[in-house]
Amino acid sequence: MNTVLVLGGAGYVGSHVCKALAARGDTPVVFDNLSSGHAHAVKWGPLVRGDIRSSSDLDCAFAKYRPDGVMHFAANIEVGEGEKEPLRFWENNVGGVITLLGAMARAGVKPLVFSSTCAVYGEPNLVPITETETCKPVSVYGRTKRAVEILLTDLARIGEIRYAALRYFNAAGASPNGEIGEEHDPETHLIPNALKAAASVGGKMKLFGTDYDTRDGTCIRDYVHVMDLADAHLAALDKLMAGEREIIANLGTGHGASVLEVLQAVERVTGLKTPYDVRPRRDGDAAVLTADLEHARRVLDFKPKMSDIDSIIVDAWRFHKKTWGISR
Ligand code: UFG
Repeated sequence: MNTVLVLGGAGYVGSHVCKALAARGDTPVVFDNLSSGHAHAVKWGPLVRGDIRSSSDLDCAFAKYRPDGVMHFAANIEVGEGEKEPLRFWENNVGGVITLLGAMARAGVKPLVFSSTCAVYGEPNLVPITETETCKPVSVYGRTKRAVEILLTDLARIGEIRYAALRYFNAAGASPNGEIGEEHDPETHLIPNALKAAASVGGKMKLFGTDYDTRDGTCIRDYVHVMDLADAHLAALDKLMAGEREIIANLGTGHGASVLEVLQAVERVTGLKTPYDVRPRRDGDAAVLTADLEHARRVLDFKPKMSDIDSIIVDAWRFHKKTWGISR
């Protein structure tokens, strides 16, 4: 049984990982400033309100809970915001990790599971993307995540830390019992936005671009169920606890769905059509981003079990219906 300090554990992926940790008997201690996370998503251990940019907040949490390992989800993730406010992203996403690494060193804690992203690749040369693809991120967000990966490599080389950088493709879905799910504000992700428009909880969805070089002209993404992601975090933590020094792995499914295919799945699951307006391409959207999973299979024994697109939407829909007060 491990005690794990989960930075950003009140957020979307972090809260699902906390649930998975608790389910196998570990204790997740959530450390979160609640700037975008939700106190109501912290159900499986204590909540420490603190900021990753504060050494004293972090030192207090390490002293009080003496964690065996750290998982880090506390970052700014909205790609468009990063383009407008790069300094805020660099301060939090990179500065915050530097402060965290200092606190880990003082506390003598080495294992760190870090949320990275397929955004580190930018426009890949080849899809599905392998971890050996050149990293040339095209957004501030992607560059901050890549900068942290480089920093972690440097520290792991001298034995300061042992780390896993998990490069998520499109995290989606919700806890199957509907108790936690995706609650971003603003919401920019496709599946919640499609469900919202289908349920008439907002206006029409904006569909960004139908002129990509793909099978139906819309972007293809690799949607992976958040509970499958959670399992990969547990496997990564176990490897690090057992002495592994460095893991870099893509987390997706290996195949993709286009925006229009997602809307068809929404209709299959909900019986509702998503009304949409076609808009121009969104800046920075690559045509196709899918993961080659060979490496994750090998190093983490990663096998997505809940990630077919309909299952993802069933779980997302259950959660959103509850939060939007829809009874049908
Ligand atoms: N899309 C729409 N309308 C919407 C939302 C999205 O048409 O309202 C389209 C996007 O243009 C894109 C696809 O749906 O083609 C998926 O978009 P998401 O915003 O759901 O996901 P992204 O692929 O843009 O984002 C993911 C991660 C980010 C990460 C990014 C890197 O969620 O954290 O990949 O490319 F930075």
